[in-house]
Amino acid sequence: MMDIDDLVAVSRIIPVITIAQVEHAVPLARALVAGGVRLLEITLRTEAGLRGAARIVAEVEDAIVGIGTVLTPDDLARAVDVGARFALSPGATPALLAAAARCGIPFLPGIATASELMAAMGHGFGTFKFFPALAAGGIPALRALGGPFPAARFCPTGGIGAANAAEWLAEPNVVAVGGSWLTPAAEMRAGNWAAITSRCKAAVVP
Ligand code: 3PG
Repeated sequence: MMDIDDLVAVSRIIPVITIAQVEHAVPLARALVAGGVRLLEITLRTEAGLRGAARIVAEVEDAIVGIGTVLTPDDLARAVDVGARFALSPGATPALLAAAARCGIPFLPGIATASELMAAMGHGFGTFKFFPALAAGGIPALRALGGPFPAARFCPTGGIGAANAAEWLAEPNVVAVGGSWLTPAAEMRAGNWAAITSRCKAAVVP
């Protein structure tokens, strides 16, 4: 099993993907991989998300599929069943944290405050999705959290794009950044996979 260090050694940019049509999943994943982006967060925001993730797991060998928008222990069980290598949530509940602590794949709970961070740390987690990153105070907020929680590591998402990804990645407590900017819905609808590959190549991948 890859742990979080192994995962972020593969890629420090994680596309947050909303699959509208299951047929988009495989060509999209191939376009991302061709652009050097191998870690994928497939969200459970759409009904096609989980089925699309299953197809990518089966057909796109170089993609490392994670499931996002994991809101409940049931969502997490579905992510594990589909073969996800990691999972993320925009937040956390006590039930989700307890399930995630024994789910067998790396899990990043979402936090936006010190108290949420402390609750997740209490379940043994050390790396967190910082969401919604920009709205929750941006880099100054993350730096402030670094004071009392020097060991905590973060994957910020929410408001991150080509213009500011490098700035976030330069923060010492940021292991990776995520966002939807690499996979615009209009390009997926149009099947413009080449544009997605180009955008990945242009993204900062230190
Ligand atoms: C997420 O679910 O991680 C965020 O909604 C992604 O935020 P963005 O659309 O601002 O990149």
